[in-house]
Amino acid sequence: MKNLEGMLQPGALKDRNIIITGGGTGLGKSMAKYFMTLGAKLIITSRKLDVIEATAKELEAETGGKCLALPCDVKHYDQVEAMVNKAIEAYGTIDILINNAAGNFISPTERLSANAFKSIIDIVLHGSINCTLALGKIWIAKKETNKVVLNMSTTYSWTGSGYVVPSATAKAGVLAMTRSLAVEWAKYGIRMNAIAPGPFPTKGAWDRLAPGDFGERFDMIKRVPLRRAGEHQELCNLAAYLISDYSAYINGDVVTIDGGEWLQGAGEFSMFGDVTNDEWDVVEQMVRGAKSV
Ligand code: HXC
Ligand code: NAP
Repeated sequence: MKNLEGMLQPGALKDRNIIITGGGTGLGKSMAKYFMTLGAKLIITSRKLDVIEATAKELEAETGGKCLALPCDVKHYDQVEAMVNKAIEAYGTIDILINNAAGNFISPTERLSANAFKSIIDIVLHGSINCTLALGKIWIAKKETNKVVLNMSTTYSWTGSGYVVPSATAKAGVLAMTRSLAVEWAKYGIRMNAIAPGPFPTKGAWDRLAPGDFGERFDMIKRVPLRRAGEHQELCNLAAYLISDYSAYINGDVVTIDGGEWLQGAGEFSMFGDVTNDEWDVVEQMVRGAKSV
């Protein structure tokens, strides 16, 4: 299996300057590292300066590439504008935006305060809009082309999901933005796509979505037909492809990477995976017998 290896050619992202929101931890950090090995220069941004500075230092040492840490709360447009301006000052131009920052936690919706709901919408939906708008305005005004936005979505963007309703609501909005702007901004040379990951273990997600014994009681892996979680490199390979010139004709799509998880949940009869062959022999006889009735 080659799924744990980097997929793109060395230099595939050379001379590409990339902003990753929420790039100090989890999947954002993994993507930043892989993109640096492919020659990209990175800006990672989030609220915690100490975290992004430590990550930038670590990734520069590991890859020999360039990574700048710029603090920014994506909820606030003025902070996003300031971050983007500093990024352009440092690198001359930005080519790629990855809207990866997110907030999420499990809770029955009726237990949420209005502010709890709002805080997730503000990070996920408004944060993605703020970054896309701030950069898009600059790209369009300067007539810069070959720009890419990649949005981190989820499979429940289109199915919805109980117990993470603010996140589902916000991610659905992000998907609508992806598809809408893919059409509207294509004429400016801006492509926009999304990734819908299934379970990819990260501390940020697991602490908030599988706390205590929930990880065992509600084992997410059992819901995945391939019976495993995703590997970060698998997602990094997909993301690198979608932001690279190799995917130049892919625009407005959302690519699912979940081992078949959401389809298993959706399929009416997908629950028969554990039925043994002996049991199927019996079942077959019963079903065939039904013909004569
Ligand atoms: C109910 C809660 C709560 C909880 C917080 N709140 N946690 N309400 N149950 N467990 C309420 C607070 O009381 C407050 O409302 C409001 O939410 C905002 O909380 P703050 O702590 O003030 O906000 P903030 O510091 O901005 O933190 C945001 C956060 C936090 C989302 C609550 O968890 C965070 O910083 N998350 C960032 C990382 C993250 O979430 N990563 C997971 C991504 S996984 P009141 O009314 O009291 O003011 C993902 C998809 C995974 O997105 C899919 C997997 C398959
Ligand atoms: P993570 O490590 O918790 O990453 C989330 C990041 O967002 C953190 O670095 C956090 O940093 C940043 N962030 C939160 N609020 C912010 C704000 N207001 N402004 C700027 N940055 C902010 O989680 P992850 O698992 O890697 O998730 C990454 C992305 O993948 C998310 O979009 C998530 O929805 C998506 N996803 C993940 C999974 C999975 O299984 N892991 C599945 C589906 C989708 P600060 O706290 O320092 O701000």
